[in-house]
Amino acid sequence: MTTAAPTICPDWLTRLPKAELHLHIEGSLEPGLMMRLAKRNNITLPYANEADIKAAYEFDNLQSFLDIYYQGASVLITEQDFYDLTWAYLQRAHADGIVHTEIFFDPQTHTERGIPFATVINGLRRALVDAEATWGMTSRLILCFLRHLPESDAFTTLEEATPYVDWIDGVGLDSSELGHPPEKFERVFARARALGLHCVAHAGEEGPPDYIWQALHLLHVARIDHGVRCDEDADLVAHLVAKQIPLTVCPLSNIKLRVFDELRQHNLAELLAKGLCVTVNSDDPAYFGGYLNTNILQTQQALGLDEPTVKQLCANSITASWLPDAIKQQWLAKIASY
Ligand code: ADE
Ligand code: ZN
Repeated sequence: MTTAAPTICPDWLTRLPKAELHLHIEGSLEPGLMMRLAKRNNITLPYANEADIKAAYEFDNLQSFLDIYYQGASVLITEQDFYDLTWAYLQRAHADGIVHTEIFFDPQTHTERGIPFATVINGLRRALVDAEATWGMTSRLILCFLRHLPESDAFTTLEEATPYVDWIDGVGLDSSELGHPPEKFERVFARARALGLHCVAHAGEEGPPDYIWQALHLLHVARIDHGVRCDEDADLVAHLVAKQIPLTVCPLSNIKLRVFDELRQHNLAELLAKGLCVTVNSDDPAYFGGYLNTNILQTQQALGLDEPTVKQLCANSITASWLPDAIKQQWLAKIASY
């Protein structure tokens, strides 16, 4: 006999404080804004309208998504474009009850097209400052290296970032995982650590558990982005549990990119039950069908998660964040008494 999933009220979820720790700002570019920016910047897209764009969002795997995602980002040209993109995400995040967000950006996607690093980061930063002033929403920025590009390009990007290091909290590793193991970036991550930056890496999304071990041992990451393939290695799961290394899991992304066939087959609940510090995140919400609360609600329904488990997921997002301990304790107390 199967039991129906308990119903969770969307308003209840919205009022629950939470953090988002795995969000690519370029992946929050909605079709409407993409069309507006293309027009503003005289860029020709291979789509006639928003419906055409949405129709193109059928993916077989990570690479088929990345090809479309990099094409979409080509409409971002000016500092105001990066501001508008970030502000649009922050408004949606605020509407979901996100009190703190740690945002990935991919400078190489833009500098490769001749957009200065300063243009990108100035636009992002101005929106983050406005969000804190407007709602008290706190944030961190994580510079991601594109792993399909050579190590030397990552070093150049880190050099370009160095004047802005006070605005950047960590480095990450994203783009095509298979064939680009973390070991390729061991030296550039060591340099980032020497600059005082935290480290995270996408690992175990499509790649094997060995890539997660490499991210831990060679890149010294504080969190694993995705990490869902850790369950193929019992020693790895035991290690992640013992060290309480958080996983930033992105359920709707995993379905759109065919990591799991269906949400009800997702291993999130099993990972939680094994004692892993699992968080839920939206990854590239404009491409994958929903922002954070949609990810939480659809996962809750598909896996039959109860309210205490949803509260646990939100508490984990605060614990796994890079907020100061005193602030974490305040948010955790609010969640506990909710
Ligand atoms: N860049 C944007 N989204 C990504 C994902 N899910 N995996 C790897 N790189 C990405
Ligand atoms: Zn991601």
